[in-house]
Amino acid sequence: TREGSSVHFALEAQTGESQILPDVTTKTWGFNGTHLGPTLVVKKGDDVHVDVTNNLDEMTTVHWHGMKLPAIADGGPHSPIGSGQTWSPTWTVANDAATLWYHPHTHGLTGLHAYRGLAGMIIVEDEATDKLDLPHDYGVDDIPLVLMDHRFLEDGSLDEEDLPDLGLLGDTPTANGITNAHFDATTRRVRFRVLNGSNMRFYNLAFSDKRTFQVIASDSGLLDEPQDRTTLAIGPGERWEIVVDLEPGEDVTLESVGFEDNYGVPDDEFVPDFGMSDSFQLLTITGPSDDAAQASALPGVLVKSTEPDVIDATERTFIMNTFSINDLQMDMQRVDVVIDHDQPEVWIVTNDNSDWPHNFHVHDARFKVLKFEGTDVELFNDGWKDTVGLPPGATATLAVEFGYYPDPQWPYMYHCHMLYHEDQGMMGQFVIV
Ligand code: C2O
Ligand code: CU
Ligand code: CU
Repeated sequence: TREGSSVHFALEAQTGESQILPDVTTKTWGFNGTHLGPTLVVKKGDDVHVDVTNNLDEMTTVHWHGMKLPAIADGGPHSPIGSGQTWSPTWTVANDAATLWYHPHTHGLTGLHAYRGLAGMIIVEDEATDKLDLPHDYGVDDIPLVLMDHRFLEDGSLDEEDLPDLGLLGDTPTANGITNAHFDATTRRVRFRVLNGSNMRFYNLAFSDKRTFQVIASDSGLLDEPQDRTTLAIGPGERWEIVVDLEPGEDVTLESVGFEDNYGVPDDEFVPDFGMSDSFQLLTITGPSDDAAQASALPGVLVKSTEPDVIDATERTFIMNTFSINDLQMDMQRVDVVIDHDQPEVWIVTNDNSDWPHNFHVHDARFKVLKFEGTDVELFNDGWKDTVGLPPGATATLAVEFGYYPDPQWPYMYHCHMLYHEDQGMMGQFVIV
């Protein structure tokens, strides 16, 4: 419910039965329903109040991924919601228009809880973006697309066994909680807000006819200008907003195609198969009817973003290597980084594994990728992001801008967003004081 600039949401985590596969019943978890959760729409400047009630038999937490907010409202592992309890965080939306999401962050169990279906999208709107001529009719030409992947047992239940080194990597892709998803467009231009809510899987998005589409927004908001792409990598936790133009009546499929070079992961019998060369259909699409109006040109400029000033910035390095960051595993009692100012920092993050991918995420922050080295894999990393993919050997230099809510007590997290890695301890804590 909304009253002026104050919005109130009620989320209830619950169990249920849903049909992920056609005609097969699967036990899943969801918020306010049997699987996944509702899209929360907020405006920059809103005072948000959420009541998260846990109707499950076990403890969980809910984290607002991508949101700048006080650590006490961030929903990390320090904010458990016991069975039957309600947690009621509040904050004021400081983010620009963007596609964010919410998911559990339960210590050691984030992957399993998300896999069972506890996840939803958050759309942040702002005034400047409202004025742009972009598709923004939710469910009509502005379509949320939550990508996940699952494995099923013979009786239709979710296979929840961690594969060696791969955790909950699925073999069956889903879009918005179902397989074989289809979209009948009613307009010639459609915006998809794509969220990779998978535990471990990276997708390489492309259309079946290899058509060019426009990327308009990254994890944390609009790009300065739309960018043409024919493929687009999206790692666990990341979001992209893309715009595609459709001819009346045509059929086209959004797919994931194998990564060139297998994302830098050696194809060798001793390396687990992270699925980088898999291809899948994600969403079949039918164009609108003949009388759908031609779309006008996309705005040439979407936003004029300022570059973070990092000339005298504090530099920190983060080395990711099998289940640790800087040789340390997550310890709820240890604070790894203390940030004692409100200025951006330079974080230099290296994937020190020669054969595993990682995906680095920072809470309460957005960053620009200043440099990307150490790999031949070319990733599109334009715009503000909060999660960055790291092929084996890659080093990303990030200019990180934090939300400034000084609090020495409550830590935020940085971690690998491949959830098995996170749950195995590839996570650290920082405070802003
Ligand atoms: Cu998607 Cu620690 O978060
Ligand atoms: Cu997060
Ligand atoms: Cu990782």
